[in-house]
Amino acid sequence: MLSKKANFGMFIGVISIGFFTLGGCSKDDDDPAPTNTSTKTYTLSASFATNCAGCHGSSGQGISGPKLQAYSKGEAAFTAVVRGGKGNMPAFTAEKYSDATIKSDLAELTK
Ligand code: HEC
Repeated sequence: MLSKKANFGMFIGVISIGFFTLGGCSKDDDDPAPTNTSTKTYTLSASFATNCAGCHGSSGQGISGPKLQAYSKGEAAFTAVVRGGKGNMPAFTAEKYSDATIKSDLAELTK
């Protein structure tokens, strides 16, 4: 018979699978989310949480989309990908993810 501890572990497991399923990313990827090894804490916008976190992680640590923490290609390249899309990533209009949000989130990611 299972101990209470084992049951609790299974419960947490089911919760986390549910959480990742809600990520809203279309790419089927069985790899677990990479562990964030950075010591910095990245606090990104609510817009990032809504539009980007499903693929890039809530703090830009990367899931099916690449890690954006310590992004080094500059604002123009960042903006071009967001406005134009790339590969499996859709394009985002300024209504969804504004220029001001690009600036502030990028500043946070590259702090
Ligand atoms: C559906 C999943 C998905 C969503 C949602 C998404 N991305 Fe991406 N993103 C990707 C993938 C996949 C790539 C890699 C594209 C490639 O190189 O083919 C990428 C690439 C990028 C890159 C370029 C990374 C580099 O190293 O050059 C940036 C910047 C980026 N995304 C920002 C964002 C931002 C900001 C948002 C929200 C407005 C967002 N993404 C939403 C999947 C996503």
